[in-house]
Amino acid sequence: MNLNVNLFGKKFDNPLLPASGPVVGNLHNLLYFNEAQVGGIVTKTISVEGAVVRKPCIVATKHCVFNTELWSEYALEKWAEDILPELARVITKPLIVSVGYTSKDFEIVVPRTEKFADFFEVSTHYGLDELAVLVKKITNLTDKPVFVKLSPHITEYLDFVRTAIENGAKGIVAINSLGPGMVIDLAKKAVKIGVDGGKSWVSGPAIKPVALNRVSNIRSEFPEIGIIACGGVENAEDVLEFVLAGADLVQMLSSSMMKGRALYNQIVSELPLKMKKYQINSIAELREMSLKLEPEGVGGYPEINHERCTKCGICVNVCPVMAMNMNTIVENNRERCIQCGLCESKCPVEAIKGVL
Ligand SMILES: Cc1cc2nc3c(=O)[nH]c(=O)nc-3n(C[C@H](O)[C@H](O)[C@H](O)COP(=O)(O)O)c2cc1C
Repeated sequence: MNLNVNLFGKKFDNPLLPASGPVVGNLHNLLYFNEAQVGGIVTKTISVEGAVVRKPCIVATKHCVFNTELWSEYALEKWAEDILPELARVITKPLIVSVGYTSKDFEIVVPRTEKFADFFEVSTHYGLDELAVLVKKITNLTDKPVFVKLSPHITEYLDFVRTAIENGAKGIVAINSLGPGMVIDLAKKAVKIGVDGGKSWVSGPAIKPVALNRVSNIRSEFPEIGIIACGGVENAEDVLEFVLAGADLVQMLSSSMMKGRALYNQIVSELPLKMKKYQINSIAELREMSLKLEPEGVGGYPEINHERCTKCGICVNVCPVMAMNMNTIVENNRERCIQCGLCESKCPVEAIKGVL
């Protein structure tokens, strides 16, 4: 099973990378990822000055993570003189250096980090006019491929991508955290974390559908650019879905903070098994396939395989129009059934077919 990815002349052993955040915010952690099975490494966003972050700043719930982090709390000096040179002594995989935020910052940060970087990733929070100036600035400062990171609150994101590419970027990272959101501590009658009126930023599995849609639409419009997907990845199938949607590489952060950092190795180990299950020979082959954007489901009535059915009752309970009934066996009432597909999607033993 071939997991390799070649992107702008750099070889990644597999498509999974950590995303910019606290897990890649210091030397100890970066060395961890050099040893781990990920295909490449990304740094926490580096700017001239270290960020001053209000603590606490990270909360995880069952489905998502909330954060109010900024860029790295270490100043450029620490990265350029200590962290990146130490990492460079041992690193065995491509390094993406994440940088922010203004033209003035780039003039100082890029020359001091360039010799360590295989790629630059630019964290942005800007409108299109500022974006053009910033991307032109950074791409004039380096020959290394520059990827611009998309914030999902930008609704005109295809214009955003076009502006980034026209001004010299080679690719896009999609997406940053979603928001602003809010997380409440009912006992304290207060937000658990939050800035500027309780705002926090949302990431993790809850945002994966938004990231997938962005990646797919960007790929359809821009077949030749590099795309690094990010947002909500939690297992090997998610990685494959993002590659099928058009991503060259796939980043993950929040799920590793919800389930532990061993998740990176676990996902990479599971990739060959899942590829076999879905008859995928290589990541490169999957990347070349076109995602079908019309569903293949027929929208017929549910057909229940009574040998498989365990009579757990889930379909009966979730059917929104009460068309599934539990008699001695599960039965579908065709007069009520709206052929929506929910029962088939919820059946834990794949005993329902015929709708999706
Ligand atoms: C605690 C935390 C810190 C983050 N810090 C950065 C950062 O410094 N720079 C950046 O570009 N994105 C940052 N992000 C956004 C992530 O890199 C990523 O785009 C987002 O969380 C979606 O991916 P995920 O669902 O796998 O976490 C941060 C996210 C979290 C949760």
